[in-house]
Amino acid sequence: MRPDTLEVNSRGVIRVGGIDVVQLAEEYGTPLYVLDYRTLRRYARQYRDMLAELSPPGVACYAGKAHLSVALAGFLQHEGLGLDVVSGGELYTALTAGFNPGRIVFHGNLKTEDEIRAGLEARVGYFVVDSLDELQLLGQLARARGVSQRVLLRLTPGIEAHTHEFIRTGQFDSKFGFGVAEGIADRAVAAALATAGVSLAGFHAHIGSQILEEDPFLANAEVLLTYSRHWQRARGWWPEVLDLGGGFGVRYQPEDDPPALERIMAGLRRQLRVGTPAGVAPPQIFLEPGRSIVAEAGITIYTVGATKTVPGDKRYVAVDGGMGDNIRPALYQARYQAIVDGKDPDGPREIVTVAGRYCESGDILVRDVELPPMVAGDRLVVLGTGAYNYAMASNYNRVPRPPVVVVKDGEARVWVQRESWADLTRLDRPFHPFAD
Ligand code: LLP
Repeated sequence: MRPDTLEVNSRGVIRVGGIDVVQLAEEYGTPLYVLDYRTLRRYARQYRDMLAELSPPGVACYAGKAHLSVALAGFLQHEGLGLDVVSGGELYTALTAGFNPGRIVFHGNLKTEDEIRAGLEARVGYFVVDSLDELQLLGQLARARGVSQRVLLRLTPGIEAHTHEFIRTGQFDSKFGFGVAEGIADRAVAAALATAGVSLAGFHAHIGSQILEEDPFLANAEVLLTYSRHWQRARGWWPEVLDLGGGFGVRYQPEDDPPALERIMAGLRRQLRVGTPAGVAPPQIFLEPGRSIVAEAGITIYTVGATKTVPGDKRYVAVDGGMGDNIRPALYQARYQAIVDGKDPDGPREIVTVAGRYCESGDILVRDVELPPMVAGDRLVVLGTGAYNYAMASNYNRVPRPPVVVVKDGEARVWVQRESWADLTRLDRPFHPFAD
């Protein structure tokens, strides 16, 4: 997985978006997140256009949790996507970018009262309701404002999708949503239909992330359609919207084989045709891809600071970033591919472990990987870091977070500035001893 514009020449010089990574590193410092605009735009448009072809046209609601900033929200608005937000902070970021609130879907299994108020105030298109408490509070706050808020109910379809397999379970022990079995969802639908201040527009279900098969996505759609028909028969209520969530896998490693979106869409079209009863319109389909839009566009450039060989001949290469800018290897044992700038492509290789700079043994970015021999000052590029890296970055060890720079056709623009040491203490207040 690499950005569309990433090139490595015969001397091993790496360029992205028409700019040498060394030049980017010198200009913006390292660690540095880089987004390749062309790759990002290609995926955004692919989802947008595939959904637009459905009848009625669907909406690609990019999942902001994968990576969000004011500029990225502005980009999504410019390209005509919708947006899934999960917090007041993501909502605020989108609104700051001037994002059309009508195309925002407000998620989250626990929205605080302030967040619900902010969503109502902004007039977001949909709330995805996750509990009866939320339904009640939302109804109350909407009534107080004299509005009727469109909602989707989050359902738990009983599909457990893992990376390479999925199972349909009778168990619905997820913290998210209302299980379609055991009458739990039925009670929620009945409550939503009876709650003044909210209008039930449809259902949502998300089955997991980094899913590398197409069947679970289709099974999810099938469960939602089957469940909708149950309500159509019982009460004549039929959803206007079915939001099938995100979770489309990407190729972190050469052996990862993500499903072809065209096939998922073809299956979906078929299901909508056979699953929509006579006399009603097929629901509008929302999808919420996050990772699969932004992961591949992203790389992180690091500078090698030190190398060492420890007993047992294990080689460590320590770089100037790590778990503060990419928590995924430590948290999920995620594996990334890396390349090194300026090394002869046919030159020697050795097995090394790329260690981060944070004070924790588990701060390893890439374990046991074959790379050219490195020395301090070399630039190492980790691929596929566009999703859940910047978004999950922290200030552990009081290390400032890296900037996000977007590149296209030889031009670089800052989307997020580098934090400074002063930023780290901006919210701190001085110590004054308590009187004993
Ligand atoms: N919609 C809902 C309701 C979700 O919960 C998620 C992800 C998405 C959409 C987007 O899923 P995507 O298309 O990005 O897979 N931090 C983890 C991923 C957590 C995903 C949580 N929900 C990671 O770094 O792998």
